[in-house]
Amino acid sequence: MRSHYNTDLGISNIGETVKLCGWVNSYRDHGGVIFIDLRDRSGIIQLVCDPNDSKESHEIASRARNEFVLIAEGKIRPRGEGLINPKLKTGEIEVIVSKLIIENESAVPPFAIADESVNEELRLKYRFLDLRNPKLYENFALRSKACIAARNSLANMGFLEVETPILTKATPEGARDYLVPSRVHQGEFYALPQSPQLFKQLLMCSGFDRYFQIAKCFRDEDLRADRQPEFTQIDVEMSFCEQKDVMMVAETFLKDIFKACGKEITTPFRIMQYKEAMEVYGSDKPDLRFDLKLIDVIDIFAKSNNEIFANIAKDTKKNRIKALRVPKGDTIFSKRQMQRFEEFVRKFGAQGLAFIQVKEDGLKGPLCKFFDEVDLKELSKRCELEIGDVVFFGAGVKKTVLDYMGRFRIFLAEELKLIDPNVLEFLWVVDFPMFEQNDDGSYSAMHHPFTMPKNIEADDLEEISSIAYDVVLNGVELGGGSIRIHKNDIQQKVFKLLNINEEQQKEKFGFLLDALSFGAPPHGGIAIGLDRLIMLVTGANSIREVIAFPKTQRAQCLMTDAPSAPNNEALRELGIKLREKITK
Ligand code: AMO
Repeated sequence: MRSHYNTDLGISNIGETVKLCGWVNSYRDHGGVIFIDLRDRSGIIQLVCDPNDSKESHEIASRARNEFVLIAEGKIRPRGEGLINPKLKTGEIEVIVSKLIIENESAVPPFAIADESVNEELRLKYRFLDLRNPKLYENFALRSKACIAARNSLANMGFLEVETPILTKATPEGARDYLVPSRVHQGEFYALPQSPQLFKQLLMCSGFDRYFQIAKCFRDEDLRADRQPEFTQIDVEMSFCEQKDVMMVAETFLKDIFKACGKEITTPFRIMQYKEAMEVYGSDKPDLRFDLKLIDVIDIFAKSNNEIFANIAKDTKKNRIKALRVPKGDTIFSKRQMQRFEEFVRKFGAQGLAFIQVKEDGLKGPLCKFFDEVDLKELSKRCELEIGDVVFFGAGVKKTVLDYMGRFRIFLAEELKLIDPNVLEFLWVVDFPMFEQNDDGSYSAMHHPFTMPKNIEADDLEEISSIAYDVVLNGVELGGGSIRIHKNDIQQKVFKLLNINEEQQKEKFGFLLDALSFGAPPHGGIAIGLDRLIMLVTGANSIREVIAFPKTQRAQCLMTDAPSAPNNEALRELGIKLREKITK
């Protein structure tokens, strides 16, 4: 129907007759001439309905209201002197309407499209209206380009796109499964895949050699700004490969994706060991757009005569004492700010936040009296302190200290505006531990139990590392992968260490163990979170902005009202009886 999208037009089209289709974004009647801002997915253009040009169109325009659907024909002319709107892409021109059709009317919309003050709940309830916002549309245009680029890039490297089942068996990625009851096999359930992990490994056992899929994954877990219960991965697996091969493939398709999105990135990415990431940045996904490093000072505190710190310093395996120097911090932060810092770290388990200020006449602060001169000098040297600095200290159990000091590092960088939002800082984090200890003392696999361990013979489970790698962008875990176990005996050893007995192994992963016993090739892969990637490329502050129909933090779709109660007939057919009536 249309000759152009609105924003295809500019001064070079002056004098041309065009036909445009879209929605009324707003309208104004200025002394008999009606101005309509017509919106399509590209943006807005001004229609001018002057009774002197077309009486009929002017009459029709007088009936147009917000979100009515219009088809307009007319000539492009330049806007008058002083009437140029620099905020609009088409701000230098307007359309003198000669023919206007109201193709459809609209009820009064619950909010003005693109009104930034509208709360998110209302936007999600009327998502189909919210998506009329060209700014939001741009996210999806970019997402589409990214998917096409990923497909082309992987196809060029010999990867085959294969779909794997959605109704399947539990896949262990560490979250709860979404279950789907079977009508045919009453009392039995399918699980929705948390990832295609096992299927892609099976495809390697089938000799497909190089697989990819833009795959939907489902995880019932606590939601955050960068987590959704259903999300999409660019999922990749390859055979006869080492870690470096998978990394190169990932860097290649990421480079192609970013290029399609208009951004050049530099490869290869920097590589950092998990241990360094944790000890120096307090995170397995460090944001390297700013410096601020955690410095180990436990040995210096061991010599202090402060009982609490000295006690913590006795156990260097379990505990940590970390310093975080803020250059010129003493001259920047007020007392009140310092108190807020302490409140911040306490939320993440800190007992307090000690600090030392560096004044003209030396180190100052209540802590100083516990150290002798030599140790204070050593502290100054180790932390490279200069006059005007402040240095904070976190002390206690390793896991807690690294966590809150890592978060504090980011908090400070935001306060001090150290982060350049235009920088893309990629990083590989490698050599993850194979196992991590749960709060109840048991162990689970840090990535997943199919990851190849490096030194399975080690006595201490915590000393076993794995051939696993994460790709991090600006402090966000963009993707993760590993080289897999392809030998049955190693796989069973890992299951055993995880206390998964033979019966459970058979029941849960029998098909995988079977496949491994029929000549499985060495293989490995990676999965990149597509939603997170698009969130970072667009600068959106939540993945909900890059998912067409997302769910809320409480895993609900406000538009369709899912999840909702099934009717009794459906439950009867499935052989399911609800234990108690659940009131919302
Ligand atoms: P992993 O569990 O690390 O690995 O997931 C890979 C990437 O998927 C994204 N992601 C999510 N995005 C949005 N919402 C979620 N709830 C969510 N959970 C994960 C992240 C993450 O880095 N099968 C393995 C991959 C492999 O080993 O090949 C896997 O799924 O960006």
